[in-house]
This record gives sequence, structure tokens and C-alpha cells, in this order.
Amino acid sequence: MRALQWRGPNRLAVGEVPDPAIKTRADVVVRVRLSATCGSDLQLLGGDSPYVGKGDVLGHEFVGEVVELGADVQRHHVGDRVVVAPVIACGRCWFCSQYEYSLCDNGGCFGWSHAGSHAEYVRVPFADVGAFTVPDEVADERALFASDAASTGWMGADMGGVNPGDVVAVWGAGAVGQLAARAAQLLGADRVLVIDRYDNRLRQVEKHIGAETINYERTDVVATLLDRSGGRGPDVCLEAVGRPGTVGEAVTACRKGGSVFVLGLFAGLVDRFPLGAISVKGLTVRSARMHGQRYIPMLLQRMAKGELTTEHLATHVMPLEEAPEGYRLFRTREDGCVRAVFRPGS
Ligand SMILES: NC(=O)c1ccc[n+]([C@@H]2O[C@H](COP(=O)([O-])OP(=O)(O)OC[C@H]3O[C@@H](n4cnc5c(N)ncnc54)[C@H](O)[C@@H]3O)[C@@H](O)[C@H]2O)c1
Ligand SMILES: [Zn+2]
Ligand SMILES: [Zn+2]
Repeated sequence: MRALQWRGPNRLAVGEVPDPAIKTRADVVVRVRLSATCGSDLQLLGGDSPYVGKGDVLGHEFVGEVVELGADVQRHHVGDRVVVAPVIACGRCWFCSQYEYSLCDNGGCFGWSHAGSHAEYVRVPFADVGAFTVPDEVADERALFASDAASTGWMGADMGGVNPGDVVAVWGAGAVGQLAARAAQLLGADRVLVIDRYDNRLRQVEKHIGAETINYERTDVVATLLDRSGGRGPDVCLEAVGRPGTVGEAVTACRKGGSVFVLGLFAGLVDRFPLGAISVKGLTVRSARMHGQRYIPMLLQRMAKGELTTEHLATHVMPLEEAPEGYRLFRTREDGCVRAVFRPGS
């Protein structure tokens, strides 16, 4: 089959790889309908990540159609349209029993050491745990983002503790930040503010999410946030960028006793971190990789009701054969690219 492979530092190419097959009784094989780029993928491209090797297939946010079933699969049939959580989880270990799927003892992640979704087919392990049937009324371009961006954003607002009436600030107007902002609204936040420097992304936030925006190149972020939260600072700060500086800014802006949730993915050590402010201000600071399985069914229901629309994020839909160019646009943000989305077999 055709798939997008990592061939070396910043070298991507579409090539031939073996077709996946059922390996365990809990697997299904899915024919990919759409597969999206994600900010997390950018960390893999440069070649200093242990999670990618020559020839590996990238991609973890996808919607597809079940074409083959393992003998023990209960919840799926051939022909079902499914959204798959990027994080693979067994559903049986202690962590899965706590719904902390990304901490699974037997888990993994598509496109990170495992086969990825920028391909014609993907084997989905533990399919009864990680794949979810898409309601007929939800189109692929909307369902796709229940996989990662919407469930990650929702996790930030949920585990960040957004309450009705809150002021919530979100750093980053990528797909994750935008959908974290939408989640905060749906959880009852009074005021949601999204920070970025790309005007096209901020315009999407205003038009499709209905949140306020701050361009950090033109505005003093912390002063503006204080001003718009009665001088106290936001109740909840969601970091959807993945830089130490933005986590620090969130800590600085957050109100005393407030909560900071870090959605950005980090590796290794970070110095000059404002630990003092966390303790003096009594902040709660949390982070996690996404627990998609926890949120995807609820998100698909909200998508079916029209409460959650995401198709505006798919700014560049293209054949899988053009995926290297899609990554270039996504990485450089050229042409207003928010998410490049690949359609195999076209
Ligand atoms: N926790 C998880 O499981 C999980 C899942 C998906 C993505 N992520 C992470 O979430 C983050 C966002 O993902 P994405 O796909 O939306 O990424 P993206 O690259 O599309 O968007 C990131 C945005 O942050 C903005 N930004 C950069 N510096 C900023 C600053 N100082 N202040 C405000 N905004 C700033 C960029 O302009 C960009 O628009 C990434 O770090 C990604 O790795 C985590
Ligand atoms: Zn992702
Ligand atoms: Zn598990």
C-alpha cells in the first residue's frame, strides 16, 4: 500500500509499504478515509526524536472504514465508519480502569513507533477500546477531529477544571487550542480568550469558535488578560503551544488559586521555570497526553447535534501522494494552513 514515510531528518516521501494484517484477535484493519497533520508530528520530523526511525509511517489523527475484523472484536462490523483515538490502550490494565488511557501499561501511539495513519490502511489494536462508530450525520471532515484535536482540547478544559462563569485563556490557535476554547465554552465559561500571532487563525477563532482573540505580537498578553478578568487573571489557563515560555506566561497570568493545564508536549528538562509563582499563587498545574477514548463518543454526539463544528480546520485537503507538500505547508503555516488533511486513494 501507499504511505507517508519518514526517510531522514526533514525528509518525507510517499512510498510502498506492506499492507497491514490482523495480528491479534482484538484488532481491526481500517481503510483510511482522511488523516490529518498534528502539531505533535512536527517534533518527529527533525530526526532527534527516539520515536521515529527510517521508513516509519507518520500520522495519528484519522477516520476510516473497517475492512477486516479480529475474531474477538465485538463492537465493530466490516463497513463501519470509525474514528480512532491516536493513543492505543488495552482497556484492561489498572490505568485504563481509571480512564487514563494514555498511561496504559500496554499502550502506544499511532505514528510514534507504531504504524501511522498517513497510509491507505492501518491496523488498529484493541479496536473495541480505541475505535468509535461515527454517526451517519457527521461527515468525515468533522468526525476526523474527534480523533485528536477535539478530544485533546476537551481534556484540557475538563481536567483543567473549567466551571460555569469562568474566564478561560488559551495559548495557541492551532486546531488543539481552538477546540480547547470551544470545549471551555460548552462547559459554561463566561469569557474565553485565545492567544496567537497568526491573524488567519485568530479570525477562525472569532468566526467559528466565537471566542475573543489576542495577537501577542501586537498586545501585552498578561496585561490584557488581567484587564479582561476583573484584574484577577483567568481562572483557567490552557497551554496549547508546547513551549516553556508559554507555560511560564500562563503561570504568570493565571489568577491566584487558579489552574493551568499544559496540553503542549514536552521532552526532557526545562530550566528557568516560575516554580515560585506556582507555590505563592497556589496554582494547580497539570498536564497529560490525551485520553481520547474518554471523550470521543461524547464529542461525536455533540458533532451530530451541531454543537461542535471542526471542518474549518481542514484548510488543505489533498491526495495522500501530496503529503510531503502538505507537511511543508503545515510546518511553515504557508497559505493559511491550519491542518493538512490527506485522502488516500485519490
Ligand atoms: N496532550 C496531547 O496529547 C496532545 C495532543 C495533540 C497535540 N498536542 C500538542 O498541542 C500543541 C498544539 O497542537 P496543534 O496541533 O494545535 O499545533 P499547531 O502547531 O497547529 O499550533 C500551535 C500554535 O501555537 C502558536 N504559538 C506559538 N507561540 C505562541 C505564543 N508565545 N503564544 C501563543 N501562541 C503561540 C502558533 O502560532 C500556532 O498557531 C502542540 O504542542 C502539540 O504537540 C498535545
Ligand atoms: Zn496529535
Ligand atoms: Zn491499559
